[in-house]
Amino acid sequence: MQIALSIRNLSKEYTNFGGSHRVVSNLTLSVPRGEVFGFLGPNGAGKTTTIKMIVGLAFPTRGTIEIFGEPSNTRTVRARVGFMSENPYFYSYLTAQEFMLFSASLLNLSSIIAHERTASLLNMVGLSGAADQQIRTFSKGMNQRLGFAQALLGDPEIVFLDEPLDGLDPLGRVDFKRMIQALKKEGKTIFFNSHILSDVQELCDSIGIIHKGKLVESGPLTRILKGRESLEEHFIRVVGAKK
Ligand SMILES: Nc1ncnc2c1ncn2[C@@H]1O[C@H](COP(=O)(O)OP(=O)(O)OP(=O)(O)O)[C@@H](O)[C@H]1O
Ligand SMILES: [Mg+2]
Repeated sequence: MQIALSIRNLSKEYTNFGGSHRVVSNLTLSVPRGEVFGFLGPNGAGKTTTIKMIVGLAFPTRGTIEIFGEPSNTRTVRARVGFMSENPYFYSYLTAQEFMLFSASLLNLSSIIAHERTASLLNMVGLSGAADQQIRTFSKGMNQRLGFAQALLGDPEIVFLDEPLDGLDPLGRVDFKRMIQALKKEGKTIFFNSHILSDVQELCDSIGIIHKGKLVESGPLTRILKGRESLEEHFIRVVGAKK
């Protein structure tokens, strides 16, 4: 089994006027290649902070992060990683197509590939009809779809998605789940977090639960649930007991 992501003893402390505040504490976990991994935890648990450290948007105070066996902060590794932010920021006066082509230029994609991928990804996320629409006129769900398409532009082998289901209507969630399953079939590794635990249960091979910056448990979903309870029941029992 090849390991896609390996995090060891990862900690993050923020320093402010009141002293230092540890928001991720000694986190150790690994994700096998080709799996869908769900990263769960209540609001403020440290999920976004962890993802930001993995994709290089925040510096760890301590610990190591490896992707496909190499330090996560190298150029070669970065080129194999896709990321969708919790609050995607877009240049709102660009159209969806212009934004995708602009993002492709940052990835140094050739013009032909940029145009091909833009067309196929906008089609995949259901935005073909809005390709020439300025992003400032997009609904929340349309923004989520565009963020997802952008995360896949570099044809990454591993994708980190921070709350990708947030703001999607029920049909959008079904679409999204199909897209995740299709990516998995292509052999990609998907790491995402969501508060919609029924969807997580449906999609994920493994999960990790983080609470107050500490990993409470992680492993294959079948082993964690043992067929006895739903993920939501399990989460409430495990996290609720620690409040
Ligand atoms: N730049 C920052 N400076 C100081 N504290 C921060 C900073 N960013 C996040 N935090 C704190 O870190 C903690 C974890 O935040 P984080 O955004 O990682 O949570 P989360 O698990 O993603 O929550 P949610 O489910 O609400 O998105 C919170 O207490 C937050 O206030
Ligand atoms: Mg978050």
